[in-house]
Amino acid sequence: MTEKITEKQKNDILDAVRRAGRGLLTAHDIESHMKVKPGDANFATVWDVETQRVLCSRLHEIMPEAGFLAEEDAENDGDAYAERANANDDSITFIVDPIDGTTNFIHGLSHSAVSVAVSACGSPVFGCVYNPYLDEMFYASKGGGAYLCKNGVTAPIHVSDRTLDRALCAFGTSPYERSRADVTFELAKRMFLSCREVRREGSAALDICYVAAGRYDVYFELHICPWDFAAALLILTEAGGMMTALDGSPVDDRRPTSAFASNIACRSEAAAILSTPI
Ligand code: IPD
Ligand code: CA
Repeated sequence: MTEKITEKQKNDILDAVRRAGRGLLTAHDIESHMKVKPGDANFATVWDVETQRVLCSRLHEIMPEAGFLAEEDAENDGDAYAERANANDDSITFIVDPIDGTTNFIHGLSHSAVSVAVSACGSPVFGCVYNPYLDEMFYASKGGGAYLCKNGVTAPIHVSDRTLDRALCAFGTSPYERSRADVTFELAKRMFLSCREVRREGSAALDICYVAAGRYDVYFELHICPWDFAAALLILTEAGGMMTALDGSPVDDRRPTSAFASNIACRSEAAAILSTPI
């Protein structure tokens, strides 16, 4: 499958994602046009919708044979996932998040990313996550290693070898499903008491890429969607890390999941903490 993506297509995808990200830097009046989405405190701005429209149209030109699973598509409810999961599907799908970290974007926090994965049968074969505020492009091809291109300089990235006592642990709050808050914050407390410090920065895609780059050592969240993690999952595994659901089962980029991403050095100790019943 990987060989079905040419180097030119990969470069064109990176270019399209970079352009989409740079467009976010010109955003203004963000809070004046917002649409409410299903779930708790879940919004999309006109920038999410317009960035997705322009980006997907360019991606379609690059790989006309590929389908789309994109965050701002109206039909993304439980049934749409189930249909995709049941399809005997060897086709190629772009999994697109036009702005991961929309709440940060609304509040001017300069920590959001554009994320695109090219996926086949539930598993990404190419992925990139771009933070335009720092000009940081994380990307990976299956079997080809993971890289960070920053300010025009590209270098391989790798997870850290920190053990849990020295680890920085990121977590997400599953903000659109607040019934999970007790478990989330209990697990965050446990991790806080076992590692160096915890963080909640507001972009799952960047959280996972930061584990890949050895900035964080662990990331967990009780509920994330394919567009939040598909590209970052490949970047993490190509950087020597691992991500499963919180119960240790494999993740599949055709459906939502809980997430436990980490380096290898602190994985078993962190797994014991995160899987102990509350
Ligand atoms: C959200 C962010 C956030 C995570 C949520 C995601 P969005 O994505 O990644 O960090 O906690 O679970 O849904 O809504 O900003 O694209
Ligand atoms: Ca997202």
